[in-house]
Amino acid sequence: MTDRHALPAGFRWGVSTAAYQIEGAVEEDGRGRSVWDAFCERPGAVKNGESGRLACDHFHRWGEDVELMRGLGLDGYRFSIAWPRVRPAGRGPVNGAGLDFYDRLVDGLLAAGITPLPTLFHWDLPQALEEEGGWLQRDTAHRFGEFAAAAADRLGDRLPAWITLNEPFVHMVYGYALGIHAPGRALMLDALPAAHHQLLGHGLAAAELRARGLDVLIANNLTPVRAASEAPEDVAAAEAYDALHNRLFTDPLLLGRYPDLGAYGVGPDLCGSVREGDLELIAGPGLDGLGVNYYNPTRIAAPTDPGLPFAEAPVEGVPRTHFGWPVVPAGLHELLLTLRDRYGHALPPITVTENGCSTDDTLDDAFRIDYLAGHLDALARAAADGIDVRGYYTWSLLDNFEWAEGYSQRFGLVHVDFETQRRTPKASYAWYRDLIAAQRAAAATR
Ligand code: BGC
Repeated sequence: MTDRHALPAGFRWGVSTAAYQIEGAVEEDGRGRSVWDAFCERPGAVKNGESGRLACDHFHRWGEDVELMRGLGLDGYRFSIAWPRVRPAGRGPVNGAGLDFYDRLVDGLLAAGITPLPTLFHWDLPQALEEEGGWLQRDTAHRFGEFAAAAADRLGDRLPAWITLNEPFVHMVYGYALGIHAPGRALMLDALPAAHHQLLGHGLAAAELRARGLDVLIANNLTPVRAASEAPEDVAAAEAYDALHNRLFTDPLLLGRYPDLGAYGVGPDLCGSVREGDLELIAGPGLDGLGVNYYNPTRIAAPTDPGLPFAEAPVEGVPRTHFGWPVVPAGLHELLLTLRDRYGHALPPITVTENGCSTDDTLDDAFRIDYLAGHLDALARAAADGIDVRGYYTWSLLDNFEWAEGYSQRFGLVHVDFETQRRTPKASYAWYRDLIAAQRAAAATR
C-alpha cells in the first residue's frame, strides 16, 4: 500500500471470526443445540459430512488464539456470541456458564490490548426456536432482543460497540430461500419474512444496547451490482438484484423504508410481515456504524428462468479465489462510493467487518497477500475520496469451518491442522502484522 493511500489516524485494524466456525465444544457448559448442529447431521448437507463439532477448538484454545492476535498487533477482534450458549432454548433462563466463556475471552483480549467487537447473530439460531418457525416467526425477533439484553448486561461494561446481525441477506437467501445453509429451507420468495424479522430483531436488540449506552452496528454483505450490458433488460435486472441484495437490508435502517420489490411481485409489506411501527423501530435513531462485508462484485443479466427477475452472469477476466469467487478490489471502492451517493448524510461511518479470500492448503499464501493489499488500497482510495472509514477486519484469523463447504475452504492468516489443532502462521500473517505496524508508525508522524 502506498503512503498516498494511507488510512486515517485512529483507523482500527482487526480480524473477524464467528462462533460456530471456530469454537467447537458444542455440548459444553450447557450450550443448547443450534440450527447448524442439526443441519450438519443431514446427509449431504455439508461437504464430506463435516460439522463445527470441534472446528478450531477455540473454546479451549482461545488463549493461544489471543496470543496470535497480540502478535499481529491488532486494535480489534470481531467475534460472535453463540445464542445457544447464552439461552440454550432460545428463550427462558440465561445460562451463566455459557456467558462465562465470553467473559474470559473478553478479559483476555483486553489484557492483550485488543478491543473486542461482538456480533450477536452469526447464523447459529437455537434449534428450539427453529422448531417454532425460526426467523419466519415474528416472535423470534423478540427472543433476539432478550438475548441481546442478557449478553449486554453481562459484557456491556467492557464492550463499547456491538454488531447485531451478520449478513441477514446471506442468512435469508442461503438458509431460507435456497436451503443450502441451515436451517435448510427452500422457500424462494416466501423466505422474505425472514428478512423482515431479522431486521425487526436488529431494531429490538439495538434498543436494548442503546438503553445501556452502547454503540450499535450491523454487518451487511454488500456487493456492487453491474449490469451485463447496457441493454434495458439487463439494467432492469441489475436494479432488481441490487434491491434484494443491498437495499433490502440497508434502506430500512438508513432511510426507514423498504426498497421497491415490485420486480418480484412483492409489495411493501414483505409478504404480510410488516406491521405498523416496525420500520420506525428498525431505523431507530440511526446506526453508529455500518459494517460492510465485501468479497466480490456481482454481474447481472436479464432473467433466463421466469421465477426470478434476474440471472447471474460471470465476472470475466479476473483472478479467482480457491472458492471460485472473482477478485475485484476496485469493487470495494465502487461499493463505498455508491453507498455515499445513495444515502448521503444518512450514511454512518463505515467499518469493513469482513474481507478476505480462500486459498489452497499452503503456508506461502502470496495470493492472499495480493488480495488483501489490493482491497486495502481500494479502501484507502475511498478514504481519500472522503468516505469515513474507521476500520478493517479481515476474514479470518484462522482456517475454519466454512459452512456448507466444511473445511475445504481456508480463509485464515493462520493455518490450522484439523487433525492436531496445530496453528501455523502463514506468510500473510507476517505481512499483515508488518503492514499494521507500518501504518501505525506512518499515522503517528503525519
Ligand atoms: C460470512 C462468513 C464466511 C465468509 C466466507 C461471510 O459470508 O459472514 O461466516 O465464512 O463470508 O464465506
